[in-house]
Amino acid sequence: MTTIPVSLGDRSYDVRIERGLIDRAGEALAPLSRGRPMPIITDANVAIHAERLGESLAAAGIASERIVLAPGERTKGWDTLEVLTDRLLDMGVERSDHVIALGGGVIGDLVGFACSILKRGCNFIQVPTTLLAQVDSSVGGKTAINTRAGKNLIGAFHQPALVLIDPDVLDSLPARELRAGYAEVVKYGLIDDPDFFAWCEEHGAALLDGDPVARQYAIARSVRAKARIVGADERETAGTRALLNLGHTFGHALEAETGFSDRLLHGEGVAAGMALAFAYSASKGLCPDEDAARVAAHLRASGLPDGLAAAHVHADGETLVGHMLHDKKMTGGTLPFLLARGIGRTYLDKTVDLADVAAFLDAQPRTLEGVTFPAG
Ligand code: NAD
Ligand code: GLY
Repeated sequence: MTTIPVSLGDRSYDVRIERGLIDRAGEALAPLSRGRPMPIITDANVAIHAERLGESLAAAGIASERIVLAPGERTKGWDTLEVLTDRLLDMGVERSDHVIALGGGVIGDLVGFACSILKRGCNFIQVPTTLLAQVDSSVGGKTAINTRAGKNLIGAFHQPALVLIDPDVLDSLPARELRAGYAEVVKYGLIDDPDFFAWCEEHGAALLDGDPVARQYAIARSVRAKARIVGADERETAGTRALLNLGHTFGHALEAETGFSDRLLHGEGVAAGMALAFAYSASKGLCPDEDAARVAAHLRASGLPDGLAAAHVHADGETLVGHMLHDKKMTGGTLPFLLARGIGRTYLDKTVDLADVAAFLDAQPRTLEGVTFPAG
């Protein structure tokens, strides 16, 4: 068992990572339950793991009613939030109780937000089942739903009481979802850990192939990085946590252009966005061309898009920058960009000229011979 603390004063908690942990979750959760039931909120694709989790809780004497929601990003909205909070109130959930979010980022974000407002705040536990959720969204307390105006625009910072990560649940995850989550793993190397990026270049293929040692190592190293960053800047006010948005501004434009749909998953948008952030930095002479080329090559080798062509985005620069203007990071008419001085040397730049970004995007190739994304 690897235990990584997230140090946030009286909101501190542990992230526990262990193969097969779902089947032993009851032992870990018994001290928190204190004889009270623990509702499990999940989605239909995760049902098999919900069953095992319920059995483990029952063996530890914890009652657990299950609420199974529809899979997909649409679940993260007002309608389901209302259904979910009504059900939790009907179940008699009290403020000191713990609700379990078992699923990917959609379930984690929705349940976390529901728990931030239920009776003005009750406890919740994250049991993430996608690679993206295990290395990113389950840690750090960002919770949200989507609205007509955009993604994640209604939300709260609400930290979980515990995060339980069982890397083996990734065995049932579709390969494309695994690759999309891997983009967030690569992100930690690119932000400030060049040795980890080199590790990804060497071991990424094994991780994507299901190697349990590579998988567990990458999850633990990513969670350590996230815990350090969140511990330093919980509410993204000091500039440190903003580094976690590497690739997200370019990626957001691509996701918006593809309608936030299965045409481009969030992690895939982040991958293409990171490649574009490095390419833009190189075009400005900020970052060596070789570093930008290394980033693109590794993403491509991992079956991830490395730019507009691979993401099948044909829109012009002005249209894409138009999407960026709806980014919630816009402040006072300017949009901060995460740029790079090299691999592992990312920084926040508040002086980027959007017309220049549009011209850069216009110059990017729109067609690429032999593109096979998404693969499989
Ligand atoms: P997701 O939750 O939609 O899961 C992806 C798909 O995999 C879904 O169809 C789901 O049903 C299925 N699935 C999940 N676990 C499975 C398993 N073990 N086996 C088989 N199928 C499984 O998507 P995601 O990529 O995990 O998360 C994306 C969401 O996370 C977005 O809404 C994004 O905004 C949010 N996010 C939040 C944060 C944060 O800090 N809170 C960070 C990044 C992303
Ligand atoms: N996923 C970005 C953050 O947690 O800040």
